[in-house]
Amino acid sequence: MLTLLKLLKDGRFHSGQALGAALGISRSAVWKQLQHLEADLGLSVHKVRGRGYQLAKPLLLLDSTEICAKGLHEWPVHIFDSIDSTNAEALRFIERGGAAPFLVLAERQVAGRGRRGRKWVSPFAENLYHSLVLRIDGGMRQLEGLSLVVGLAVMHVLRDMGVAGAGLKWPNDVLVGKKKIAGILLELVGDPADVCHVVLGVGINVNMQSTDEVDQQWTSMCLEAGRNFDRNELVARLGARLQQYLELHHASGFAAIQPEWEQYHLWQGRAVSLIAGVNKIDGIVLGVDHQGALRLKVDGVEKNFSGGELSLRLRDDS
Ligand code: BTN
Repeated sequence: MLTLLKLLKDGRFHSGQALGAALGISRSAVWKQLQHLEADLGLSVHKVRGRGYQLAKPLLLLDSTEICAKGLHEWPVHIFDSIDSTNAEALRFIERGGAAPFLVLAERQVAGRGRRGRKWVSPFAENLYHSLVLRIDGGMRQLEGLSLVVGLAVMHVLRDMGVAGAGLKWPNDVLVGKKKIAGILLELVGDPADVCHVVLGVGINVNMQSTDEVDQQWTSMCLEAGRNFDRNELVARLGARLQQYLELHHASGFAAIQPEWEQYHLWQGRAVSLIAGVNKIDGIVLGVDHQGALRLKVDGVEKNFSGGELSLRLRDDS
């Protein structure tokens, strides 16, 4: 089915006969595969008698040669047409003894994972689903504030590419105004005090223009900038920004990045509720500490909070 898609991706008309000949199948088998493309991948195909078949809009698929040509040479890149989750695949690769660093990308995820057990909506060939795996052998310090650092790198790439309003929300959401444009999910395997691997999962809404499936306010690069983006270029640029910030973090720790992170934090000084399961703590955002923990003023006293299950809401969100 995906071989057929690759023949159609130029957005031109292709006759059923030519497609059948290229795939070594009958015209009716081509027809069946087209039905699956539409049903399974949500793609729209024009069918015109006498001309053949044409994708409603051309597709620019992920391509490791393109990504390399655009400047990313540091990490081996594994690209999947369809996968449960790039983070899950990265973890399986480590378990099989795969050597880090490496990068896993996919055109779609059928079980994309978000923070706090949520799903990450991952339609085919529209967005970026990106898991970079690093080997950590320098102890806990190498993990402190790491997810915030990844958020900062992602935010810079979005700004570099024209999404001027991108900013941060603790711990690692990237927003434009109140709408989420990117999310980050770190998963760890091994002993953080000794040697471990960390999967830096990044999801960016790139060319997605509509979906009923996302249960929070969202936007995409395309909706913000009014044009489509080349995801191969995005991968290469994200690689460069990640390298820049990961090197700084490795050399100097999160303390060196904390002032810049706070500068781009959209909720500095805002009245918030911190949600931890059934508990809710009201406070004013002071910033983050040198480990990336949230600093809140609660009843006049500064308190620090960290943990993967925490989430923030604005209190004056009218
Ligand atoms: C969040 O809830 O904000 C985090 C979303 C993280 C989504 C990305 S997409 C690539 C990687 N693979 C996954 O299954 N999740 C992350």
